Amino acid sequence: IPVDTFDLVVFGGTGDLAQRKILPALFKRFCAGQMPRGSRLIGAARTTMDAAAYRDFVRGALSEFGGEAALDRSAVDAFCEKLTYVAIDARGDQGWDTLSGMMVPDRVCAFYYSVGPGLFSDLSQRLHRHGLVHANTRIVVEKPFGHDLDSARALNRELSQHFEESQIYRIDHYLGKETVQNLMVVRFGNMLFEPLWNAQYIDHVQITVAETVGVRGRGEYYENAGAMRDMMQNHLMQLLCLTAMEPPAMFEPDAVRDEKLKVIRALDVVQPHHIVRGQYTAADGHSSYREDVDNPRSKTESFIALKCHLNNWRWAGTPFYLRTGKRLKERDSEITVVFKDTPHSIFGPEAGRHRNELTIQLQPDEGITLGVTIKEPGPGGMRLIDVPLDMSFAEALGPDADSPDAYERLIMDVIRGNQTLFMRNDEVEAAWAWTDPIIRGWEARGDAPKPYDSFSAGPDDAAMLMRRDGREWRGMK
Ligand code: BG6
Repeated sequence: IPVDTFDLVVFGGTGDLAQRKILPALFKRFCAGQMPRGSRLIGAARTTMDAAAYRDFVRGALSEFGGEAALDRSAVDAFCEKLTYVAIDARGDQGWDTLSGMMVPDRVCAFYYSVGPGLFSDLSQRLHRHGLVHANTRIVVEKPFGHDLDSARALNRELSQHFEESQIYRIDHYLGKETVQNLMVVRFGNMLFEPLWNAQYIDHVQITVAETVGVRGRGEYYENAGAMRDMMQNHLMQLLCLTAMEPPAMFEPDAVRDEKLKVIRALDVVQPHHIVRGQYTAADGHSSYREDVDNPRSKTESFIALKCHLNNWRWAGTPFYLRTGKRLKERDSEITVVFKDTPHSIFGPEAGRHRNELTIQLQPDEGITLGVTIKEPGPGGMRLIDVPLDMSFAEALGPDADSPDAYERLIMDVIRGNQTLFMRNDEVEAAWAWTDPIIRGWEARGDAPKPYDSFSAGPDDAAMLMRRDGREWRGMK
């Protein structure tokens, strides 16, 4: 879909996120012809450098994180012509007049706050003071969006003093992942699943986002966040919402976000015995969590598994099991919907009972698998086995099928002014309202996470959480 000429100003333009994600994403969209003539990327950061030095910096970032596309030197050069740089002081006056002098009246302009939330307020005030805000101005805000409900509310209040809600794009990059969007298409673009998508036919749902990486290098942030704030409150919550929500009338921003909000508000309070927290220990020459964050007494969790319920007609009685963690045995993000047993087996007890399972694999290989029960081949009577109806996206759509990075999709949506895949103020607050009492409970009780071996499946208690209910985790075991 073509876009109008735009400017993207990246505050924190020399930072880690800019290098790894924002610049490569914009470069790829440029290569795809989505940066119309006259569009600019303006890096803004404290460091004093000129546009030529910034272009060199961007070349370095692209050669490291730009993938194959960045091997094309002429494409990189052409992209760099669209770049410029302003040295700016978010808390002072330096650079602001220069920036406002560069602006083209009424052109779509997105200001990407790729900086800590401590600077959101300063940046917003200065954008206003220097006349940089007009109807086509948008701001893009990264997580963490607050630390708890109070701080998220304060941030929302602050931003709302300077911008309309329709100008604020709160990123949860999981919503930009292809398969996450596919989840909505699978549900609402097929007749097959939705009639069965409820407590009557679904035994339970499980969502796993497992990572092999630890927190080294991000210790300071992570130690104050933990898996609950870093992943559960946002990414897993969004996956839960898209799995559980009612069909919106239209695939448009408020219709989708209204339905997601209802899911979060329907979440029951999680019982303490339905939560397992873990913290990785050293293994195979890899440091422990406590070493990584340089705090020998840390009580922050690098793993969390929990069971929750939704208090609504569609889902009453169907548990949702969510787990996420770092330094686990494999990288595996998936949503599995486990259907109930057939009401009666006509094949008798010896045949065995089987359940249908639908797995939506987000990472590492995107795809969807439906487990179907068939007869075991052979003359030996009626025994049932499960076979997967497998759709690997790479196989089905071809290895060259375009699977853009989440940031490519999301940045272009900002430019187009489409907020469907961004979180609204009330959604973020509702997610914190659910998370806060859980965290406060741990703090009040002084709960420490259970140690688990690096590159294992997490604490044994996480497996027990399922086994107690006669179930087991799919995916990473
Ligand atoms: C980020 C978290 O939001 O998501 C990180 O802060 C995490 O801790 C990352 O590693 C995971 O993203 P992805 O796209 O690699 O699954």
